Amino acid sequence: MKAVRFHETGSADVLRYEDVEQPVPGAGEVLVRVAGSAYNPADGGMRGGFLPIPISLPHTPGYDVAGTIVQLGDGVHGVKVGQPVVGFLPMTADGGAAEYVVAPADALVTAPSSISLADAAGLPSVALTAWQALFEAGGLQPGQRVLINGAGGPVGGYAVQLATRAGAYVIATASPRSMRTVQSNGADEIVDHTTTSVLEAVTEPVDILLNLAPITAEDFAEMVALVGDGGVVVSTTPRVTTPGDEQRSVRAATIYVHPDAAVLAELVGLIDSGDLRVDIAERVPLEELPELHRRADAGEVHGKVVVVPPTA
Ligand SMILES: NC(=O)c1ccc[n+]([C@@H]2O[C@H](COP(=O)([O-])OP(=O)(O)OC[C@H]3O[C@@H](n4cnc5c(N)ncnc54)[C@H](OP(=O)(O)O)[C@@H]3O)[C@@H](O)[C@H]2O)c1
Repeated sequence: MKAVRFHETGSADVLRYEDVEQPVPGAGEVLVRVAGSAYNPADGGMRGGFLPIPISLPHTPGYDVAGTIVQLGDGVHGVKVGQPVVGFLPMTADGGAAEYVVAPADALVTAPSSISLADAAGLPSVALTAWQALFEAGGLQPGQRVLINGAGGPVGGYAVQLATRAGAYVIATASPRSMRTVQSNGADEIVDHTTTSVLEAVTEPVDILLNLAPITAEDFAEMVALVGDGGVVVSTTPRVTTPGDEQRSVRAATIYVHPDAAVLAELVGLIDSGDLRVDIAERVPLEELPELHRRADAGEVHGKVVVVPPTA
């Protein structure tokens, strides 16, 4: 089968589109014919060798995957051949940038039926990140005020939708290129971070500050003043320490997304009931994944990109 792999870490040049042996599912695993995998910034981090996730080389990226089950390993129950599925695969294992991928059966849930199977790859880890940030780390309750900084990206897209749907008042920052999407996701207020200081635009305290943007430690620390006493600061960007304020009981929480098939199944349900939208910015052939990594490294990729193998 065709796959994109890297045999050593480094620039996007280390990625090779090559023929590899089709993998065989072991006990508790299934073989999935890939309809689409998603590009995530962490794929670039693992390829570059600067994310501390232990992988063995050669490695196939693409841990967010959607496809159809074509073979069951020993002892697999609860899923069947022919079932369309979506999942957040273990980041240490080979991913879905290939025609076939082996996945733990319990990482997969039935894919949404209201969107294309390939596009469903844009859901798993990204929507789980937003969900875990808001509800697990943030403890979001209806009626609370949430400030989402960097709402124009894929995680922000789900975060704005999920917070709005949970009955929160959502203030989002976005540049002009993202404003329309953030608005259609339901944000109550949008601050253009390219022209307006969020410190001045937000005049009443928020209960949760969720940061998704690559801001400096200094800028992040200043934003804590926007969080009311007893509130929480949540961040998905571990390169900068998440600041809190002990004196005012403002908690700090840094998110590392973890697989959660039960919540993923709930998110699939929200898509099929029309309560959650999957935004796909681009669909690119598998062969072009190295070029996609190059563009992402250069900051030229905006929004979720789905990678489609030749047989899909
Ligand atoms: N820890 C985890 O488990 C985990 C999981 C998933 C993702 N992440 C990380 O979470 C972050 C968000 O993910 P993503 O895929 O949505 O990333 P993304 O596509 O890079 O989106 C981040 C957004 O921040 C906006 N932004 C850039 N500079 C800003 C600034 N100075 N002020 C306010 N906004 C600014 C961007 O611009 P516009 O306003 O122009 O749109 C962009 O839309 C990334 O750093 C990603 O690596 C972490």
